[in-house]
Amino acid sequence: GTAAEAATARFAFTPIPVATDGTVHVPEGYEWKPVARWGDALFSDAPAYDAAKGVPSQGADRVFGENTDGMELFNIGGHQVIAVNHEYVNPEINLPAEQEEKVKSEADVRLLQNLQGVTVMEVAEGPDGWAIVPDSPFNRRITHLTPMRLSGPAAGHELLRTPADPAGTEVLGTLNNCGAGKTPWGTYLTCEENFNGYFGATDVGAKLPEAFARYGIEAESVYGYEQFDPRFDLAKNVNEPNRFGYVVEIDPADATSKPVKRTALGRFKHENAACTLARDGRVVVYLGDDERGEFLYKFVSTGVYAPGAPTDALLDEGQLYVAKFAEDGTGKWLALTPEATGMTAAEICIHTRQAGSKVGATTMDRPEWVAVNPRAIEAYCALTNNKNRGMKSNAGGDETPVGGPNPRAENHYGQIVRWYPADEDHAADSFRWDLFVMAGNPGVHKDAYAGSSNINAGNMFNSPDGMMFDQTGMLWIQTDGEDSNEGDFAGQGNNQMLVGDPASGRIERFLTGPKGSEVTGMTFSSDRRTVFVGIQHPGGDFPDMAGGLPRSTLIAIRRTDGATLA
Ligand code: FEO
Ligand code: CA
Ligand code: CA
Ligand code: CA
Repeated sequence: GTAAEAATARFAFTPIPVATDGTVHVPEGYEWKPVARWGDALFSDAPAYDAAKGVPSQGADRVFGENTDGMELFNIGGHQVIAVNHEYVNPEINLPAEQEEKVKSEADVRLLQNLQGVTVMEVAEGPDGWAIVPDSPFNRRITHLTPMRLSGPAAGHELLRTPADPAGTEVLGTLNNCGAGKTPWGTYLTCEENFNGYFGATDVGAKLPEAFARYGIEAESVYGYEQFDPRFDLAKNVNEPNRFGYVVEIDPADATSKPVKRTALGRFKHENAACTLARDGRVVVYLGDDERGEFLYKFVSTGVYAPGAPTDALLDEGQLYVAKFAEDGTGKWLALTPEATGMTAAEICIHTRQAGSKVGATTMDRPEWVAVNPRAIEAYCALTNNKNRGMKSNAGGDETPVGGPNPRAENHYGQIVRWYPADEDHAADSFRWDLFVMAGNPGVHKDAYAGSSNINAGNMFNSPDGMMFDQTGMLWIQTDGEDSNEGDFAGQGNNQMLVGDPASGRIERFLTGPKGSEVTGMTFSSDRRTVFVGIQHPGGDFPDMAGGLPRSTLIAIRRTDGATLA
């Protein structure tokens, strides 16, 4: 065929228009169906979901959790096993109706704690589509209470020691699990993002450590755990927050395995963990810190990955770097070493943001997901938006000048930066960069806010967030933005998922989510005939459409002709 035909084959679907309604839309010739909604049973002893009340506190760790986010599918001896994050809760939906939005008891706190974390579940495709396999030996809930091990340079540091764990090596739970990753050896990486919101002080006058400000840890919490669970009370347990903000490794093949917090990958508001290999086989993990004016990171292991060889040290021993972008389209990975920062190796892994500031890293427009192209030596990061560019970012943060990969002040639309590692090696300490796309609105603006040339009236969107490559090298882009469809956002409709071609820059819309939702997390079935996608915090009564509570939902999308998707 011609080059034009080849380019068209890269988009084997008819792009869809925006939507403003309460459900999911996919292109003609495709179909979607819910697979797992919050409250759905993973085990036959789980409490029944009530359309008006949700689930009771007792047994909330036996059901699919709230706010589905990053996910990965693992083929384990022919079983399709999905590990998927439950980022946070919507107390006004999850708590019993009479409770309104505030926790009023320890049982309420346990309910919320059990609806978050991670689900590992086997799914299977039957005559009616994909469904959870109840009681599969792979099924597991990891919650805010699950025991896990701290490893790497920060493990055992005095800042990680608590009355319950004087050694600083054991912690309960993983918080605010946002994006995800998959290691070359088949484990799941879940990333702790806005962990700060779970901590508060019952004594609001409690003096908090200075280092808390940079992480947004304050006497007032978001969820009120500290009122009923002293572990989250900063007046009693001031080091507990230092034990969160990490990347956690989970073995999806063993439901009894203990998750491991890999402190070597740094402590910040982790978005996802995009793994690849350097030319020599070292493991490279790209990591975004989702906050206005924070940084983009890279970890490179000391050892090399060899199939079948032990992997435990690979995410414990290595070098963490932070990105510095120059205006001329070049950039450097700055090593966060004791020499460069004046901090110990452990301190760098606990106060990673401060370490990045010490070496002069580039403040970014909220780095969300990183995706590594499997067909070219390049990587992409979604810089979702930044209403404050040009100002001091957050307490203790750096100035955020306009420029480089963050070219717009009052950036409501976001952009995707791409970098090409030197020597075609992800371990290289320098790179070239460009912008794959600047989102914008050509219907409203004629200047830089119209977006880059690959944005048009038919594909516009705002706030790119989730990103994954398929094995053909196409970039799937998910949005978490403003869905008012008015003003600056007129014509952009609900949040959506698009497909981009790295070679041509072309971007087309594949899916629209229900009003109020963001689209986040995706993974393919082993045969690539299904893509699983997360619909987080929908409004209305999605997806049951029966007048009950809205339910964050993991959906399956297939072609009706049964062909592969990618
Ligand atoms: Fe949980 Fe930055 O998204
Ligand atoms: Ca996100
Ligand atoms: Ca987001
Ligand atoms: Ca979210």
